[in-house]
Amino acid sequence: MKGLILAGGSGRRLRPITHKTAKQLVPIANKPILHYVIEDLVGVGITDLGIVVGDTAKEIEESVGNGSQWNADITYIHQEEPLGLAHAVLISEPFLGQEKFIMYLGDNMFEDSLHAVVEDFENSSTNARLLLAKVDNPQAFGVAEVDEQGVIKGLVEKPENPKSDLALVGVYLFDSTIHRAVKAIEPSDRGELEITDAIQWMIDEENSIGHKTLEGWWIDTGKKDPLLLCNELILEKIETLLLSQIGETVTLKGEIVTGKNVEIIDSNIQGPVVIGSGVRIERSDIGPYVSIGDECKIEDSSVERSVLMEKSYISGVTQLTKSVLGRKVEIDGKESEVQGSTSLMLGDGTKVNLKNG
Ligand code: DAU
Repeated sequence: MKGLILAGGSGRRLRPITHKTAKQLVPIANKPILHYVIEDLVGVGITDLGIVVGDTAKEIEESVGNGSQWNADITYIHQEEPLGLAHAVLISEPFLGQEKFIMYLGDNMFEDSLHAVVEDFENSSTNARLLLAKVDNPQAFGVAEVDEQGVIKGLVEKPENPKSDLALVGVYLFDSTIHRAVKAIEPSDRGELEITDAIQWMIDEENSIGHKTLEGWWIDTGKKDPLLLCNELILEKIETLLLSQIGETVTLKGEIVTGKNVEIIDSNIQGPVVIGSGVRIERSDIGPYVSIGDECKIEDSSVERSVLMEKSYISGVTQLTKSVLGRKVEIDGKESEVQGSTSLMLGDGTKVNLKNG
């Protein structure tokens, strides 16, 4: 079975973080989301992978390479414009051929292993298998209507009045019937070839569509709060590994991972926290639930429940919380009169001075 990872698109909802960079490369516990996706697929024995890329192709190719670090073979499939998930399948037919495949959205993360789902589908004659999850805001997703016998009757993309709370999650298994479906449908009102419409076409043509409701967590990381929640869920699983010597003026509690050449002075670290290589922390309280990218510098600050990408510099910020900072962000909170906590989402290279509140 082949794997098709969708990493094109525009990342509108994570702007400014994804203004220039790919949303699939935003790090969770210091590892890009897309790397988790590849590991997940390789973990169930799927190593022949196609990655659909758009404007951010260069950055994605630099991060993933030819896949040799996972013993995978990667084929990049260039999509000129983000014309929809079904369009991504349409242009991938030459790579996929007539084989069954698993399509995985490059910004989705899962707790459940895909093992059983993949094995079941490989040995079945079902034409498609979908994964569903109960959500509080079905309007934001593709929604499945399932009858009393558990059969999927219909699918609607981001309906105003959803007929159920069962969202389609970002993993789909298909046989070659999907290639006829994506050619048969028309673009939706938002101008995209919707994968939900293609699957609806398969239902109308009386193909068999299986489904499974997820047991563990699932996160579409495309917005700030789900991204931070995902960071917390992944950090819950880390185990202490210190690759740098930590001095006596530092208190460490909980699970903490550090890279090489980390220098921490007069600070408290409350895990779970991941600290990249070459990071310097001075007179600060870090954690819980913080991921700090390589070569960040933090002084006279307190940071909790946040993701900091590489080379950011934070000075004198008394309570930074629930924040996502891009690369090379600078926040100067010295002499600031800000009371209470500060929560920010800042794109690469942003400079903020909190002096005037
Ligand atoms: O996360 C699950 C949801 O994903 C489903 O419930 C929806 O039915 C499905 O349409 C999709 O909705 P989103 O609005 O979240 O899709 P998004 O535009 O974020 O795209 C998902 C991934 O696919 C993302 O990594 C970008 C990539 N993509 C997207 C488009 C539109 C492409 O590679 N090419 C595209 O043309």
